Amino acid sequence: MTPDYSLLNRQLAALLDTRDWLTNSAQTCAFIMEQVPDLNWVGFYLQGEPELLTLGPFQGKPACHPIPFSKGVCGAAARTRTTQRVDDVHAVADHIACDVASRSELVVPVIVNDDLWGVLDLDSPRQARFSAADWEGVEALVATFIERTDLT
Ligand code: SME
Repeated sequence: MTPDYSLLNRQLAALLDTRDWLTNSAQTCAFIMEQVPDLNWVGFYLQGEPELLTLGPFQGKPACHPIPFSKGVCGAAARTRTTQRVDDVHAVADHIACDVASRSELVVPVIVNDDLWGVLDLDSPRQARFSAADWEGVEALVATFIERTDLT
C-alpha cells in the first residue's frame, strides 16, 4: 500500500527542527525506514571527493563504501542527477549488491544550488516495490530535507 506521502511530508518537516545536516539526514532515513513499508535499507551517500560517493547516515545492514559515480544505481543517480528506479536489481548488470535481500531500489539525487550534495537510496526486498507515487513521494521528502537543512 502506498503511504500517505503528504502526511509523511508534514511529519518530516516537524521532525527536522534543527538545520544541522548530520542530525537531519539521520532523522530523515530513520523516519523513512519506520514509515514506508517493505524496506530493508535507507540511507544517504554523500558527494565527498570528486566522482565518489561516501556512505553517510543510514538504517539497515552495513553497506558498500565508497561508490564511484561510474558504478551501480547510486552512481547512475549521481552521474545523471536524476532519480533512478529499478524494479529488479538482478537485471541490472552493474548493480552493487550490499544486502542480498534487496530486490528493488529507488535513488533520489540531493541537489543544492545546482550542486550534487549526495543521494538518498531506498532498497526493498520486494520486486517492483516502488511505484510512480513512491517516486514522487520520496522526491517530495527529499525536497523537504533540503529546504530544512543547511547543506552548503
Ligand atoms: N545497490 C546500490 C548500492 C548501495 S546499497 O544498495 C546500500 C547501487 O547499486 O548503487
